[in-house]
Amino acid sequence: MPHPINPALQPNTLKISILGAAGGIGQSLSLLLKTQLHFPLKTNSTQRDKNHIHLALYDVNEDAINGVVADLSHIDTPVSISNHSPATGIKDCLMNSSLVIIPAGMPRKPGMNREDLFNINAKIMSNLTDDIAKYCDLSKVFVLIISNPVNSLVPVMVNRLWHKHQDVSKNTHIERRIMGVTKLDIVRAKTFLHEVTIDADITPRSNDMPDVPVIGGHSGETIMPLFSQSRSYKSLDKDQLAYLIHRVQYGGDEVVKAKNGLGSATLSMAHAGFKVVNKFVSLLLGNVSEIHGICYVSLLDSEGHPTAMGMEKLLPLIDNCAFFSIPMTITKKGVTSVDYDIVDRMDDHERNEMLPLCLPKLKKSVETGSKFAIEN
Ligand code: NAI
Repeated sequence: MPHPINPALQPNTLKISILGAAGGIGQSLSLLLKTQLHFPLKTNSTQRDKNHIHLALYDVNEDAINGVVADLSHIDTPVSISNHSPATGIKDCLMNSSLVIIPAGMPRKPGMNREDLFNINAKIMSNLTDDIAKYCDLSKVFVLIISNPVNSLVPVMVNRLWHKHQDVSKNTHIERRIMGVTKLDIVRAKTFLHEVTIDADITPRSNDMPDVPVIGGHSGETIMPLFSQSRSYKSLDKDQLAYLIHRVQYGGDEVVKAKNGLGSATLSMAHAGFKVVNKFVSLLLGNVSEIHGICYVSLLDSEGHPTAMGMEKLLPLIDNCAFFSIPMTITKKGVTSVDYDIVDRMDDHERNEMLPLCLPKLKKSVETGSKFAIEN
């Protein structure tokens, strides 16, 4: 049976679009979403706003997406799925989507940093932004940007919507619902810390691996893992801390090098992305009224006002950097508050050595993305 292009979605359906779904991350993330999203089946669905999940998978590589969707559609879970490519158009993919996930774009090869991807991926992001402006309800939709460089591509989308799509973005507060996905840095920090503490026998061997908050951006020194906030901090010596910080900041390079030209992290990224999407699904299904996490977001609206509670306190602490990842609370309206206190809780090294290295680089990446959006 052919896979429906535009399935008649029931009002109780939560539609999730993945743009770039045939790629390394797109495929693995789609598999996790198809097999692991079980919310509607577990409890009484009458209490929920929505009780069915639909995945709309889009990729410019038509053969690849046809194969991926045919393959996934044989999996025996109630998550429904549809197939979209330029041949069928992106409109049917995006229409009525509550959540749009974007891993579309080129990954790194050995010797490249994330900024080297900017020219190609910024164009892709601009085109997809235009499609989102055209076909999504900007007053409701959430967008999760995985494509690199996250530090610049989130500003590309936000600024393009403000400046080129003012007619549809005005008064929608869309910037509160566009998130750069930096969760892989948190997953890495947790994993690497666990390895060190297990080796040193500092903490008991257990499955309980506490999160290490990672703030700032998602590239090299803009990545700020705050080991000072972890339970094992006091047991770590200076060398261990330096090793851990460097490994989190440059962990992506280990995978790029190991893949030797075949791309960057896909499986660990899909795992990290699934953790994030899972929370958003819970929020959008109406299971919870708010979620908590760390994403890379705009701190200002199109008129230069702070977008959520705590941002006015955060901005002077980070030299008015307009985009930043920080622990936050998110409701269906988007980011509602940020935990700016975390900057006060940093240790001397994080505050005096890491933050001054992060901020100028991050501000430059934000400027690159914002400028591109306005000039192209
Ligand atoms: P990939 O090359 O395997 O997949 C990218 C997919 O995007 C391809 O299937 C391609 O056909 C598709 N694509 C290209 N242009 C498109 C467009 N205009 N519309 C729809 N689809 C389009 O790459 P991979 O490994 O999946 O990585 C994707 C992106 O994610 C890269 O930019 C990579 O740097 C980034 N990434 C981000 C991470 C993060 O922590 N945020 C971690 C790892 C990778």
